[in-house]
Amino acid sequence: MTKQPIDWSKLGFEYTKTDYRFSAKWEDGQWNDGELLTSEYMTLHEGSPALHYAQQCFEGLKAQTAEDGRILLFRPELNAERMHNTSLRLSMPVVPHELFLRGVHEAVRANASWVPPYGSGASLYIRPLLIGVGSNMGLRPAKQYEFRVMVCPVGPYYKSGGLSVISLAVSDFDRASPHGTGDVKAGANYPGGLYATKKAQELGAYEALYLDAAEHRYIEEAGSANVVISLANNTLITPKSAAILPSITRRSIIDIARHELGMHIEERPIDLRKEVDSFVEVAACGTAAVLSPVGKIWFDNKWHYFYGNGEKVGPVMQSLYDILCQIQKGERLDRFGWTHAVKL
Ligand SMILES: Cc1ncc(COP(=O)(O)O)c(C=O)c1O
Repeated sequence: MTKQPIDWSKLGFEYTKTDYRFSAKWEDGQWNDGELLTSEYMTLHEGSPALHYAQQCFEGLKAQTAEDGRILLFRPELNAERMHNTSLRLSMPVVPHELFLRGVHEAVRANASWVPPYGSGASLYIRPLLIGVGSNMGLRPAKQYEFRVMVCPVGPYYKSGGLSVISLAVSDFDRASPHGTGDVKAGANYPGGLYATKKAQELGAYEALYLDAAEHRYIEEAGSANVVISLANNTLITPKSAAILPSITRRSIIDIARHELGMHIEERPIDLRKEVDSFVEVAACGTAAVLSPVGKIWFDNKWHYFYGNGEKVGPVMQSLYDILCQIQKGERLDRFGWTHAVKL
């Protein structure tokens, strides 16, 4: 496979136009078969509920090249399942798992020359999108929908790249309410976070960290990643909340911590101020962030430091990161059955 003539090592987390995208349409209760398109533009009716009422949702996953040249997807069936749950919550038609997975496979296969080569440090980001289109005026579900899968090669999400230490600042704003849509991947959950991120960055942090909206006490998650924390007694804790996105990366890290590192796992409410002194290593995790160690968190007008005084990667997060990446790149026996090769 001849690859695109681009410098993979220079890629950031940016849009690059690739050759094809998959698109399927829903109308009158039925999905069509879908097709590959070359244009990156969509034509939308001005009355589309996606534009007025944010009736849209999305997913994010990655494809990586293994040493033997296979292109591996990481747990795509969980993205299909999460989009299913999101669609029900937003009164949108469910994309059948077969269509979701076929769209992902077809988009990756058609753009195989854009999948970064093994060892490049980059990957192919896959963005499935479901939007309510067609004319509409009142606040009602759309009568037509488009399911699209676009892909682009990306480098590290955080500008520092690789496994380097980031920082978070606790936000005064809320991301999601206790019984709202925080546990699904609605696009509407995100624009409010743009301002929160700006405020966090003004404090010198990479991202905002949200606390629970009811009491501003318990850790929820970062702008685009869940949080995991190691304690001194071989324990990994992670927030339990109905308002956070159930991260596929976090679920995988928990399994790795439990089954590969023999750690004790606790998914429970984490009271930031009461418990911060017991945190040894902290990390943000997600498809884009992978596992990004958090060296310090800003709240109550000061920085609170963790392992290595905010500068070094700790051994627990290093091991979790290494094992996760090795599985994703096919370098380690995939005992969990998480990776799926795209048929070329
Ligand atoms: C708000 C939020 N939390 C967590 C995550 C991480 O989820 P995943 O590991 O499934 O990518 C994401 C990214 O998808 C996100 O946007």
